[in-house]
Amino acid sequence: MIELIDKLEKEHSLTLEEYKTLISERTPEYAEILSEKATEARRKIYGNSVYIRGLIEISNICKNDCYYCGIRKGNKKCERYRLTAEQILSCCEEGYELGYRTFVLQGGEDAYFGDEVICGIVSEIKNRYTDCAVTLSLGERSFESYKRLYDAGADRYLLRHETADKEHYEKLHPAELSFDNRMECLENLKKIGFQVGCGFMVGSPFQTDETIAKDLKFIEQFKPHMCGIGPFVPHRETVFKDMPQGTVELTCYLLSIIRLISPSVLLPATTALGTIDPEGREKGILSGANVVMPNLSPSEAKKKYELYNNKLTGGAESALNKKMLEERMKTIGYEIVTDRGDFKTV
Ligand code: 5AD
Repeated sequence: MIELIDKLEKEHSLTLEEYKTLISERTPEYAEILSEKATEARRKIYGNSVYIRGLIEISNICKNDCYYCGIRKGNKKCERYRLTAEQILSCCEEGYELGYRTFVLQGGEDAYFGDEVICGIVSEIKNRYTDCAVTLSLGERSFESYKRLYDAGADRYLLRHETADKEHYEKLHPAELSFDNRMECLENLKKIGFQVGCGFMVGSPFQTDETIAKDLKFIEQFKPHMCGIGPFVPHRETVFKDMPQGTVELTCYLLSIIRLISPSVLLPATTALGTIDPEGREKGILSGANVVMPNLSPSEAKKKYELYNNKLTGGAESALNKKMLEERMKTIGYEIVTDRGDFKTV
């Protein structure tokens, strides 16, 4: 194990078998060694800065029926909403005053948000706030659509790959969704010039050490600028309602590994991690994460954008409580910065 950890630290690469061993043979002692190496690797590039992103959940209307997701089309109990352009812009205004310099527009695959609507909103945000980055997280779209969004000024795009194992992908999604298309979308986003984020849920149903090893290999080879990983948390109105949730322990272990695979990756301590553990975000940062994404959505939207049960909305999760977040980060030796927080090339 020590040899594997040293190899990962030096070469930023392991074989599939080695990744699998690193996961299956883990102990709290090895986790500690990994997190020390991971935080050191991050410190060399980002110091003790933690970047913040203002998350705006623009719509919970979705044409897809992903088995894990609380806003899946099949959830008839989900109260649907969609923000207007004015509402989205006023979230940005509020966020800008609070010190946010990246806005993440995230939503279900809602046909209302076609290219013209999104491009209009993106260019308006970019015109008003020339020192801000815009990140989109709106699911699968065509190459042409992604290109229009990029040309309108969007800087980054988040599209979790969900799992790098095709069979596993098919167990998490209905037949209309395909692993190959997901991967093609990620390639297209890269080609167009976006800073791209992939990612997956930790402890998703049917996940194995082997599928996780594939996720790590994929991250190593795809070289995303961002990588979102958080624990799977069941939602009562989904196919996976009775499945066990992912753990903080494995999520943090994987955050450390991902940091060592890519020392400069932008790695969030996710809301899901903060939801299953009151100190989840701090634990994530201490394992190698360097981003937090507090919620800037209007409070009504926040409640309805329920991807999983009991999703955190108050406290330091709310973008309005930036002071609280600052204090919590300071307590563990980190500093929230007012900055676009771009990917650093070393
Ligand atoms: N638990 C944790 N994460 C979830 N997501 C969707 N549903 C859940 C859940 N039940 C994640 C997916 C998606 C992102 C927006 O939220 O990985 O890509």
